[in-house]
Amino acid sequence: MAHFGIGIIGGGGIAAEGHIRGYQTDPRCQVAALYDVDEVKAREQAQRLGVPHVYTRLDELLERPDIHAVSVCSPDHLHGDHCHAALLAGKHVLCEKPLCTTWEDAARLARAVRQTGLTFLGGHVYHFRPDYRAMVDAYRNGEIGAVWLAEGDYISDMRAFYGPTSHTPWRTDPRAPQDILLGGGCHPLGLMLWALDTRVTEVFALANHRAEPQLPLNDCYVLTMRLANGAIGKLIAASGNRGYAPTGGHLVLYGDKGTLWGGQLYRNDPDAHRAEVIHDFKQQFKDHRPRVHDTRQVHHFAEQCEHFLDCIEGKTTPLTGVEAAARVVAALVAGVESARTGQPVTVRNDF
Ligand SMILES: NC(=O)c1ccc[n+]([C@@H]2O[C@H](COP(=O)([O-])OP(=O)(O)OC[C@H]3O[C@@H](n4cnc5c(N)ncnc54)[C@H](O)[C@@H]3O)[C@@H](O)[C@H]2O)c1
Repeated sequence: MAHFGIGIIGGGGIAAEGHIRGYQTDPRCQVAALYDVDEVKAREQAQRLGVPHVYTRLDELLERPDIHAVSVCSPDHLHGDHCHAALLAGKHVLCEKPLCTTWEDAARLARAVRQTGLTFLGGHVYHFRPDYRAMVDAYRNGEIGAVWLAEGDYISDMRAFYGPTSHTPWRTDPRAPQDILLGGGCHPLGLMLWALDTRVTEVFALANHRAEPQLPLNDCYVLTMRLANGAIGKLIAASGNRGYAPTGGHLVLYGDKGTLWGGQLYRNDPDAHRAEVIHDFKQQFKDHRPRVHDTRQVHHFAEQCEHFLDCIEGKTTPLTGVEAAARVVAALVAGVESARTGQPVTVRNDF
């Protein structure tokens, strides 16, 4: 019998395809209620997915004693308030990425988690990909030695998600549009900081707005970053890609013994002057599918929900705790600030 009642905050695409479908694979929990400001959509989603209670006021969902934990799946700029309200109401929280969109909210959430002692998982779902995990393990096992340069890209074509008639109109709503550096850049930066177990101390960013007219913000950022472990970080986040993006992908690590690039482990043969593939993680996991994979966005949401419940039960600790998620936001808001001012920005990691 299910012993965790789950509430969903924001009942759109990622809530339905990712979190609700994910929780429904775990017998320890039941998705009991959904809150959304769009009542028609919320009722339609709840009926389709078998969620018994629908609310258009957050406090009504949070008042329910049979809800022990929530997933926050609202638009990015609302995560801070929604997570904070849930923590104050005594609920464990799984928050979609990015944790929030301001440094102040990140610090507020870190404080609230410390004060309440509740479980908080930052929704960095790429951490659950076995090929990325294997790359991180390879680095941690010393396969590439000490890292001197780390890269990550999120170079996307967001046309299906942009505009008032798209799947997610909030992303280009001029009142609070999604900044692609936060909304997209958090994926590779989250991976980079998790892999290296470090933080960004300083950022210098360039940005432009040339490719995606529907977004009322910069659509391309390039960040250079000073990492606390001495490595240099490079991050690209862009939403106006109209073709192939032949980069190393979300996670690239250059070490003094080898390289992890494009899902493969390389080492140079200095005599042949050639890089050899030592291990191909992409190939190793080519037939792997996330537990729920008949959805529009195929990610490891069920595995992430399972990990969240494991954390609540004390079986493990969050792969991305609130402070790790806050460090990602701190670096990205520093990037936005640097692009705006044209100056390097020191990152505050004192949450
Ligand atoms: N992990 C991933 O790979 C991934 C992929 C896509 C989206 N996301 C994240 O998931 C979140 C939701 O994105 P989505 O694609 O599901 O968008 P969506 O538009 O499908 O869903 C957002 C929902 O929030 C509702 N909403 C708006 N204002 C609200 C409020 N004040 N209170 C409650 N609900 C409100 C909207 O009515 C909508 O139903 C975003 O933070 C986004 O960045 C993550």
